[in-house]
Amino acid sequence: QTIRLSDYTPPAYLVDEVHLTFRLNPSATRVTSRIAFRPNPEARERRFKLDGEGLKLIRAMIDGEPVTPALSDAGLTCDAPDAPFTWEAEVEIDPEGNTALEGLYMSNGMYCTQCEAEGFRKITYYPDRPDVMAVFTVRIESDLPVLLSNGNPVERGEGFAEWHDPWPKPAYLFALVAGDLVNHPGRFTTKSGREVDLNIWVRPGDEGKCAFGMEALRASMRWDEEKYGREYDLDLFNIVAVDDFNMGAMENKGLNVFNSSCVLASPETSTDANFERIEAIIAHEYFHNWTGNRITCRDWFQLCLKEGLTVFRDSQFTADMRSAPVKRIGDVITLRARQFREDNGPLAHPVRPESFVEINNFYTATVYEKGAELIGMLKTLVGDDAYYRALDLYFERHDGQACTIEDWLAVFEDVTGRDLAQFKRWYEEAGTPRIDVEESWTPGAPGAQGGGTYTLTLRQHTPPTPGQEVKNPRVIPVKVGLIGPNGDEVAETRVLELTEAEQSFAFEGLTAKPVPSILREFSAPVILNRDSDAAERAFLLAHDTDPFNRWEAGRALAREGLMAMIVEGAAPDRHYLDAIERVARDETLDPAFRALALGLPSEEDMAQALFDAGHTPDPQAIWEALDALKSARAHAMQDIAATLYDAHQVRAPYRPDAEQSGARSLANAALAMLGRLDGGARAQAQYDAADNMTQQLAALTCLVRANAGDAAVQAFYDQWRHDRLVIDKWFGLQILNAEPARAVEVTRRLTQHPDFTLKNPNRFRAVLGALTAFPAGFHDPSGAGYALLTDWLLKLDPLNPQTTARMCSAFETWRRYDADRQTLIKAQLDRLLAQPGLSRDTAEMVGRIRGN
Ligand code: ARG
Ligand code: ZN
Repeated sequence: QTIRLSDYTPPAYLVDEVHLTFRLNPSATRVTSRIAFRPNPEARERRFKLDGEGLKLIRAMIDGEPVTPALSDAGLTCDAPDAPFTWEAEVEIDPEGNTALEGLYMSNGMYCTQCEAEGFRKITYYPDRPDVMAVFTVRIESDLPVLLSNGNPVERGEGFAEWHDPWPKPAYLFALVAGDLVNHPGRFTTKSGREVDLNIWVRPGDEGKCAFGMEALRASMRWDEEKYGREYDLDLFNIVAVDDFNMGAMENKGLNVFNSSCVLASPETSTDANFERIEAIIAHEYFHNWTGNRITCRDWFQLCLKEGLTVFRDSQFTADMRSAPVKRIGDVITLRARQFREDNGPLAHPVRPESFVEINNFYTATVYEKGAELIGMLKTLVGDDAYYRALDLYFERHDGQACTIEDWLAVFEDVTGRDLAQFKRWYEEAGTPRIDVEESWTPGAPGAQGGGTYTLTLRQHTPPTPGQEVKNPRVIPVKVGLIGPNGDEVAETRVLELTEAEQSFAFEGLTAKPVPSILREFSAPVILNRDSDAAERAFLLAHDTDPFNRWEAGRALAREGLMAMIVEGAAPDRHYLDAIERVARDETLDPAFRALALGLPSEEDMAQALFDAGHTPDPQAIWEALDALKSARAHAMQDIAATLYDAHQVRAPYRPDAEQSGARSLANAALAMLGRLDGGARAQAQYDAADNMTQQLAALTCLVRANAGDAAVQAFYDQWRHDRLVIDKWFGLQILNAEPARAVEVTRRLTQHPDFTLKNPNRFRAVLGALTAFPAGFHDPSGAGYALLTDWLLKLDPLNPQTTARMCSAFETWRRYDADRQTLIKAQLDRLLAQPGLSRDTAEMVGRIRGN
């Protein structure tokens, strides 16, 4: 059944107050609810209808009188007064039997909840929609030592605890946690003097992995006060780490629940990248307290209202905490890998979708990451000052409300007087715009210094996406600067506002034809097409003042060289090798930036680029070209690689900050080059000496790639077998670094390992997700990769539809491959669709991927 944005109707009844009592029992938890309803004056019809799924109704009463509601799979309806009344119900649920990890479930003996988007209906009957906001009081009865819910503690006694959350909230922000947990405490004083107790709750044994998360939380709280004027609003803020969790983390009011992989950190067990990600996710969930909780979404079509904005805010935070250019480059790499892929395939959908079958399928890169890009473009278009004034107005006007994208755009219109009707297309139309660039140069009159005019003509078009044939021109902020022939910047960055299908922009007063630096900072999520040559790319890589475009020039050089290797059988490009060596040697450049510049386009990037250029990508050929380029580069750069490796060894005690992690990433990039030449000798030495996971894992990866890793792989397992997060890495790296022809076999072998389990999404993703992240292995011409993935998706679906459905996106690019591969994939898609009882989640995903 398809739900549509255009069918939105206001709720028939509103809720003022909710009282919940949980009598916890692993297989038979009783939940009693007392809910104060009142008719919604804005409603068009007065039907009393509550959502509920998988609940055993024990009894129900309205104003103290027993009632017999009409029950269905999706909930109940009942005659109800056209006046305020009290609903009471008791239901029974089975947390232990809940393998979907949605609603109330158990993970390693602890009770926990995940309600976003529609999980609360698996806990009790309720109007489970975000525009119904209520004040919750929760009583938990259990002998477990730690009993937590949202808000502030009211009473704690023998075998029970009571909690009260004074802030009205939708049911998706409800949370409950109970278990044998220990806490890492902290404190924060808000700028107006509120003393807040902070806790990170973990299973005994994980206490030593909380300190970094606590500091990240305190930094986030300070940052939101300073940057957005947002203060925390309760006396307590709890974070809980849960091992079995479908996603990263969840912003429940005052009780954030985290996948343990997104909060637990220690130098011995976490890489630098893990630390950075943990800091960002803690910030993200904390920032939701204002952008998501105090101001929430009217309906799930507005998901980007909270997610796009909160991702944008957490990116700003990371940019401030670490290096802004490095953060931007990293964000663009993931945007292209995940969102462009989505936007250019069968799952393309607008940032604000117009229909869905299962909302869990729309927690996508488009809603999150493209949603964040839209906020960034808006900020570029209106300017920083107007942006922060609009945000102040948003918080003032909409605090306590459930809002829409229209509300969001209206604050910008009111603050700036600007008409954002055209900008709104970004929310409504799917697809990645292409911008084609043409340039012309008119020299000044002879003898007239500086009379030259350089003109850029930009043309935009967006290819059709499923269900949206016609695309309209968007407003696209294109940041441009000009570099003169001697390498100096002759025109500083300015924002060109492209609003038409085609538009020209003139730069006057120039003495010589410049080289343009277009789309600086990646100022819009578009694909820029511009004919250029290797010499010009190398020039920009050497001279651009915009770090993003400098990196981009190197990336384009690498991509074009790889294309020539794959399509024409060319040798590795000398321009690239020379230019990249100059960057690597440039001591004025940040080591983290140099490490990024040494990165190569991913196999996925190359497949898309080849497809866009009219070729059928061959995953094995792509892998081989990348391998050949890496070897050529290792040979060309062996001296500098050894120098870089030695010069960037960190001697100081481990810190996960930008400076040290930048040095380690450059040293490890050098190690990877050297590993191609020395058979893994240096990597073995680094492995043996490593005292932190970044160094240990980089060395192990290098050894496996050099086919010299067997002993280290076993030693690593023996060392870390007790630590599930580290063992997840162990599983993944063996697949990701296998020979392509062996990847499926390695994956199959690892699914037989005693530590492999369907019950834990992290472990499932570590194994099957690794295979799908390795195109040359997954797309084995035999189809064995497709069949293996499908075997496991079919096993997982009855237990955990959400994680199954998400992983189906491995097939979303199928139409770009050759006919044989398409046939093989189609057979697996059909096999999935033919499965009796396939979940709604998976059925929707596979149906959309397959098309008709
Ligand atoms: N709101 C959470 C976050 O972004 C994610 C919830 C994901 N929910 C889901 N059903 N996939 O922080
Ligand atoms: Zn979020």
